Amino acid sequence: MMKHHADGEVLGEFLVSARSLAEYRAMFHLSDDDLTGRRILDCPGGAASFTAEASTLGAAVTAVDPIYARSTTELSVDAVTENDRAVAWAAANAHRYRWDWYGSPAGHAAIRRGAARRFADDVRAEPHRYIAASLPELPFPDGSFDLTLSSHLLFSYADRLDADFHLSALLELSRVTEGEARLYPLLDYTGAPLDDLIDHLRTELHDKGIPTALRKTHYEFHHGADTMLVLQPAT
Ligand SMILES: C[S@@+](CC[C@H](N)C(=O)[O-])C[C@H]1O[C@@H](n2cnc3c(N)ncnc32)[C@H](O)[C@@H]1O
Repeated sequence: MMKHHADGEVLGEFLVSARSLAEYRAMFHLSDDDLTGRRILDCPGGAASFTAEASTLGAAVTAVDPIYARSTTELSVDAVTENDRAVAWAAANAHRYRWDWYGSPAGHAAIRRGAARRFADDVRAEPHRYIAASLPELPFPDGSFDLTLSSHLLFSYADRLDADFHLSALLELSRVTEGEARLYPLLDYTGAPLDDLIDHLRTELHDKGIPTALRKTHYEFHHGADTMLVLQPAT
């Protein structure tokens, strides 16, 4: 059951957004060393161009999202139209965001449209990089990735994904990752903080032998979204 926010603004279906490698670098504090020669999972991948762009730097990237069950032709069209919905949401809710990283809503729209087009080209050229699956169950053996990145699903959609879902998803991301799993942002899509949920999840993970840390990012789009959650290798 979807929880309604006090101001009555509720986002419909999950947005399929298209972030670029530059945004992933900033959100997840990524260096070239984090990318080159690494096995990386991007879940959810959405219509992001991270997979396409990081692959050209020598990363072995796998993107996971339920939308990848669609045909590559459909996906390449949907990437552009669904990203347009995400861009329109941000522009219509401009007061919720800081625009300095992008310069302006127009700068933001240009980066996102470029990323969606890059994704559309890559999903047709390299479809094996894009696996249809859904958290909390991923079709990979334990420790398949050196680094996992997860942006704008967990926490963002806490109005419809409950604490048990979050915990199961985090445990699954940790299971398939040998190194760190990094998650951003830690606010919901309206920009509301989720401190109680995050404290609860960190305690549960700690009790299961998974250390966690909060790390500052180089990026803040939603006001206050300047922190990522890092899951470290299980002890
Ligand atoms: C806002 S997009 C984020 C995409 C990308 N990480 C980015 O930052 O641009 C959210 C994505 O989560 C996907 N999604 C929804 N439920 C999911 C699930 N259970 N497991 C994995 N991905 C899911 C949606 O299909 C959508 O593409």
